[in-house]
This record gives sequence, C-alpha cells and structure tokens, in this order.
Amino acid sequence: MEKLNTEGSKALFAKTKMYLVEGVASSFHKAAGEEYPLCLERGKGSKVYDVDGNEYIDYIGGFGPMLLGYSPEAVNRAVVAQVERGSQLSATTVSLCQLAKKLTEIIPCAERVSFQNSGTEANMHAFRLARAYTGKKKIIKFEGQYHGWADEEKISIDAANVKELGERQAPARLFTTRGQRRETADDIIVLPWNDLELLERVMEQQAGEIAAVITEPIMCDSGPILPKPEYLAGLRDLTSRCRVVLIFDEVITGFRVALGGAQQYYGVTPDLAVFAKAIAGGYPLAAIAGKREIMEAGVPAAGTFNANAIAVAASLATIGVLEDEQVYRRLEQLGGLFVQGMRMLGETYGIPLFCQAVGSICILMFGLKNGVDDFRHYLAAADIDYYDLFVREARQYGVRFTARRGRIYLSTEHSEADISRTLQVAERIFAETKNRKAK
Ligand SMILES: Cc1ncc(COP(=O)(O)O)c(C=O)c1O
Repeated sequence: MEKLNTEGSKALFAKTKMYLVEGVASSFHKAAGEEYPLCLERGKGSKVYDVDGNEYIDYIGGFGPMLLGYSPEAVNRAVVAQVERGSQLSATTVSLCQLAKKLTEIIPCAERVSFQNSGTEANMHAFRLARAYTGKKKIIKFEGQYHGWADEEKISIDAANVKELGERQAPARLFTTRGQRRETADDIIVLPWNDLELLERVMEQQAGEIAAVITEPIMCDSGPILPKPEYLAGLRDLTSRCRVVLIFDEVITGFRVALGGAQQYYGVTPDLAVFAKAIAGGYPLAAIAGKREIMEAGVPAAGTFNANAIAVAASLATIGVLEDEQVYRRLEQLGGLFVQGMRMLGETYGIPLFCQAVGSICILMFGLKNGVDDFRHYLAAADIDYYDLFVREARQYGVRFTARRGRIYLSTEHSEADISRTLQVAERIFAETKNRKAK
C-alpha cells in the first residue's frame, strides 16, 4: 500500500490563495492543522479524484448532501431536463407543489413547509417563526451544536477544552469569530446536551422568556453523540408543558437516518424541523417544516433563489430514489460492516474506539469504548488528536474522512469492496500508530 503523491493539490492551493481568501470557499474545506486541502477534479459514486489523478473512497459526502453518491444518474437526468426549461423561474411551479406535498407526506411534523437555500438561513427562519408564534425572545441551544454561521447561531459550537465551556449549570457563551456581535448572545441560553434535569430547571425558571429549544436529534457536529434513551421524548414533553417551540435541526440527520429524518427514526415529533444537505442530492435547498399554526405565524420567507427550479427538480429525484425501503436497509448493512470491522481492528491492535452506525451516518471516536453523553464528555474523553491523525493518514492511502468530527457519511453508492478497502487502510494505520501514546 503506497502513500499518494498530492503535489498538484499543494501547488494549486498555493496559487488559489493568491486570489481567494484562505484558498477555500468555506473555512471547513481545509481542516485545522491540514497543510493543504486536496484539490479535486471530479466525483462519481463513492469516489472523488484529485488533480494528481488519485482516486479516494469518500466519506465526506460533500459535507452531507451526497447521500446518493457523487453525480447520481437520477438527479443528473432531472437537473438536465430542468435546465432546458429554466433554472430560476421565481414562481410557483407544478414541481414545487409536488415537492411541498411530498415533504408533508414523509416528514412527521410537516403540516406545512417553506424553503430556503441553506441550513443557516432555514434555522434563522425557524428562530423567527418561534419568536413570532410565542411572542418570546430567548432560544436554548446546546454546547457543541452547530446550526449555521449567522451571529446568533455560531455560539458555543466548539471549545478548546472543558474549562473554556465554564460552569456546567451556567455555561459560558462562546463566540467563534471576530466581527460577531456580542449582543446576539443576549437571547441565547447555552446548556449541555442530554441533561433533562438541568434543562427542566432552566425552563421552569425562565419559561416566560423562552421561545424555542433547538437541538440536533443526534449531535452530529461533535462526536457524533447519540441521545440517551428517552431524552428526545423528555424534551418533547418538557417543551410542550412550558409552551416552548421544539425545533429539530435535521440538516444532517434529515433523509440520512430515515426518509422522515430522526423524528421518524426516534418516533418523536418536534414543532418545527429544518432540513438541508441531503434533501436535494447535491444542490442547494433547505426546508423548514412544522405545525401549521407556527409555520403560518406571519413571517415572510424571503430569498431570491428560494426553491429554485433546479434544486426542486434535484430534490424530487433524490426523494424518488430514497422512497425505496431497500435503500435504508442496504445503508444499514454497509454501516454494520464498517462498525464490525473497526471494532475488530480496535480489539486486535489494542486501540480503544467507539464505533456505531445510525442509518447512513457512522460514528467513530478513539480513546474510549462506550461513547459519550455530551460535548464536555467528548472533549474530556475522546482522543480527538488521534482521530485527526487517523484522518490525515487515511487520506494519504486514498480514503477521505471529515476531520475532527468523527462523522462518517455513507452513500447508496458505497460497496462492500469500498468498506473492505477502507478497513485495510485502517488496519495499516493502526499497525503504524499503535504505539503512539493514547490521550
Ligand atoms: C446541524 C447543522 N445545522 C445547520 C448547518 C448549516 O447549514 P448550511 O451549511 O447549509 O448553512 C449545518 C452545516 O454543516 C449543520 O451541520
């Protein structure tokens, strides 16, 4: 097994930096500590190809959207047909009506839907709907959860260590970027996740001010971390009791863990939910779905490109493929193979790891065997440095994972052969690094 030569990526990155800020279009396109990101030429199925002609088995999935793999035929056909009819009609269309109807049929909370282009915008819209409906201002969000890059959303999404997070009972509100207005945090309450008792205490004290609780149903942006049994149901009861809007951020879990999202998978229906990423097989589309009385609380959904015709066509084609129940069964089988293989390798090489799969999302953490309950626990217990080392090494052997997050996306195009090759690469890395001192 040879390490790949990526000199072309290095050179192109150096050149791009002369014109494009930081050389990337999203700060997430270059992982912290990565000398240079791969410059890619194309993607097909479960693979991407860089400018040096190297092939990679890809588990980044375009940061989530590519549930059907890269350049999926069904979506390509729908998009090409729509291109001929116009990309941006700025009007209600037959396809838009079909998509809205379809979403109300498959998403449990969706009595009505509206559209945006990205998860960031859709969550901002959900915040506004919750405030309009309740007449209250504050939003509870959880440490380590990312809901987008707007000022109000980008609070306490990450931390260098547990100390930085402050007191567990009253966590600090951490800002992530220069230029972020501090006063936006005035209406945000930050809490640790998976702790119903603490949430209950805060909600009962401040219910008169709290408009909404927003949560990822599975905490995919750190860890990922699974909800404790009964946590989501408890959250549902508590928010109903306190007349607070429960928002599920299903930007990642939507369509990935089940056709109807994590709310279908766990059987817990929120008041509002936000979908993006995998909803349109690689095209920019986001949807807000929810109870009619909240969705119709009088908040206009502005946006030039909202539900543009290309994204709508792509979404209908994507959902058409996902409606076949076999799809999720197959994704579960593949996830099972990955999980089993990684657990066995961990045992063989004495590398403690936690590996689990939910739908098309696999979870991989090093340094522990039983997973974690919240972001503090993750920061304290998971060997994040080893995970990053694993990701860097895997890239050199032709396997591409998302850095730091521990979140591995499968697509319908991954095969048993891909998983088996990936496990060979993991074995190679474990063999080479097993004597590294664990955290
Ligand atoms: C859970 C979650 N919510 C919201 C967002 C923001 O979505 P977008 O990048 O489409 O603005 C992301 C993006 O990664 C996300 O992971």
